[in-house]
Amino acid sequence: MNAQELIDTARALVAGNKGLLAMDESNPTCNKRFARLGIPQTEETRRAYRELIVTTPGLGECISGAILYDETIRQQKTDGTPFVKVITDAGIIPGIKVDTGAKDMAGHPGEKITEGLDGLRDRLAEYFQMGARFAKWRAVITLDAGIPSRGCIEANAQALARYAALCQEAGLVPVVEPEVLMEGDHTLERCCEVTEEVLRTVFNQLYTQRVTLEGMILKPNMVLPGLACSMQETVDEVADATVKCLLRAVPAAVPGIAFLSGGQSAELASARLNAMNVRFKSRLPWALAFSFARAIQQPALEIWQGDEAHLLAAQQALYHRAECNRAARRGEYNAAMEVTGV
Ligand code: 13P
Repeated sequence: MNAQELIDTARALVAGNKGLLAMDESNPTCNKRFARLGIPQTEETRRAYRELIVTTPGLGECISGAILYDETIRQQKTDGTPFVKVITDAGIIPGIKVDTGAKDMAGHPGEKITEGLDGLRDRLAEYFQMGARFAKWRAVITLDAGIPSRGCIEANAQALARYAALCQEAGLVPVVEPEVLMEGDHTLERCCEVTEEVLRTVFNQLYTQRVTLEGMILKPNMVLPGLACSMQETVDEVADATVKCLLRAVPAAVPGIAFLSGGQSAELASARLNAMNVRFKSRLPWALAFSFARAIQQPALEIWQGDEAHLLAAQQALYHRAECNRAARRGEYNAAMEVTGV
């Protein structure tokens, strides 16, 4: 491991008010999103959609890194250019999702444990060879009566830390993603409590497993009330609760925090990230950035609908979301941009 290269990559991922584009949906997840819009679920439609994304003009102005999936990192444009080359030529760092999914956890009804450690060292070496310089692993924490359990939090935190250590050994920056889900009727306070406990446990494990904090990125959820909670706090209240929670649990050595969007609308995700940067940016030890999938892609996917004739409009929508989120990192996003463009 070359620690300085890891640190340089981690810093580059959050430099220039840019952020990450998560386009690492597994085939089943991608197919599910296609099915809802009546798009055929084939390898070729997935490839064509990913080509639309990576060839979006100007994407590198707002996006520092793109997270790919195993199928996607091996694919090419119609003209034969590998996606990894297209991305790299656009000034975007290629990344790769390396977990193999969240599975039911034995002895823990309603909870998930993320798998993928077996054989990971060899897979990471191959991805590095292919040009990837960072990786992602997502742990899922579900809120409900009596859960999450300590068993679930600890097992997921340890897996995240073992993944992160292997990534750094292989020269890849680990994006460490413990996601507390939005589904449920829990309050913002409960999300805050659980997110803090999860993050403290994750950072304990990262320390125990000798992960270099300067050479990683944290990808957490924002602190939000459950989707079915009757009390929905304002954008500023969410920003305050999220930053307060992160300040308690995330060491200052971490260069950047890049939020997942988790099913928030694209506009709300931008507005909440913006509010955090407006209110706290000058006082925070780490950059507050984005690593959105749905909150960047969804509007574009809905326009595209699998139809070549909609390609340019879909790319414009994708670029617009990326641009809104870059503005949110600067604390310069506002709702008018949704009408007039940035
Ligand atoms: P969302 O932004 O759609 O939550 O996806 C982020 C991600 O990478 C999930 O692992």
